[in-house]
Amino acid sequence: MLYSNVVFNSAYWKSFTQRPKFTTHDIPDLTGKVAIVTGANCGLGYATAVALAAHGARVFFACRSQLRALEAIERAKEEIKRKHPQLNPNPEFDFLKLDLNDMRQCHHAAQQFLDRGLPLHILINNGGIMTTPFALSADGIEQQFAVNHMGHFVFTMALLDRIKESQPSRIVMLSSIGHELTVKGGIDFDTLNDKNASNTTSRYGRSKLANILIGKALARRLANEKVYVNMLHPGFVYTNLARNNKKSLGAIAAGVYDFAGKVCASTPEIGVLNQLYCATSPEIEEQDIRGRYFVPVGNDCRPSHYALDEELQEKLWTFSVKLANERIRARGPEPESEEAKVDMK
Ligand SMILES: NC(=O)c1ccc[n+]([C@@H]2O[C@H](COP(=O)([O-])OP(=O)(O)OC[C@H]3O[C@@H](n4cnc5c(N)ncnc54)[C@H](OP(=O)(O)O)[C@@H]3O)[C@@H](O)[C@H]2O)c1
Repeated sequence: MLYSNVVFNSAYWKSFTQRPKFTTHDIPDLTGKVAIVTGANCGLGYATAVALAAHGARVFFACRSQLRALEAIERAKEEIKRKHPQLNPNPEFDFLKLDLNDMRQCHHAAQQFLDRGLPLHILINNGGIMTTPFALSADGIEQQFAVNHMGHFVFTMALLDRIKESQPSRIVMLSSIGHELTVKGGIDFDTLNDKNASNTTSRYGRSKLANILIGKALARRLANEKVYVNMLHPGFVYTNLARNNKKSLGAIAAGVYDFAGKVCASTPEIGVLNQLYCATSPEIEEQDIRGRYFVPVGNDCRPSHYALDEELQEKLWTFSVKLANERIRARGPEPESEEAKVDMK
């Protein structure tokens, strides 16, 4: 039942009354660490990149637009100089071209990173879209599922050996409380591309459910490694995420959402704390925290019953590997790239 888990979930409601158990002051020194943040040019991704770099990490802005990424990098340097000069006077940033709407390009992007011979300690799968009008991706897959789930899946799998070599390391998946608003059955594998079998909200919910399902399946596969995979809802944060609401949901619903955002939502600087907790808190390693779903800040929360369904987690894993390999192969190799293949059991 939609949102029933939220309504009866005390851990979720308690999180509104608790003081954050993790703030930017708790981020340890990250000197020598390398991080990739997808969708880092604005919103939560940008705030994550700034916080990680301010504490010494070298941060890759994995973004679809070079222009927007380079502008954001300049802003980030200025911001760190202005707000945290004592922390890191020389923050290090790089741009990595990543279009999550195109699996072949995601594989190529990972290869571009691997070719630089760097370790990878923190991968934050943050980029995303919400309530977009129905469309298919470059690979012919419903777009919210493609961008929010499949693109990240291909990117992560291609980077996984490097992440393992760099352990202790972290993979952080941005999900959403919206994962509760999915389609009947959680993921409707047979009607994924059928516009009439879902609406824009349930398509978003489906993609965000996929983030938790895959995160749990991945965490299981990495149970014997010091690679900590965790998922989270960042809270209600005022960003560009709702930019498609008017087109998809109409002016009234978009207006209400925007008003609520202005009145109740947190800023990205606050909203980012939950992902920073998963990415940097020493507690994660000390207490061997993996495969969990967190609500702000650092509160372990039970996700929907679909998210906890191990059979569904494994079904999505098998489906995603097959879909990625089929579609990438169908399009042939990216120019100047080796043949792409998602190589995971
Ligand atoms: N804000 C909230 O209240 C909230 C709540 C729950 C979950 N979340 C999750 O938090 C994450 C960050 O969202 P946000 O609120 O920070 O939204 P945002 O400000 O809209 O940022 C989204 C980022 O994703 C990037 N992106 C979109 N499509 C992409 C593509 N095809 N390839 C590569 N990058 C792409 C955007 O790049 P462009 O600028 O180029 O479009 C942007 O950098 C999302 O996964 C979202 O689902 C947010």
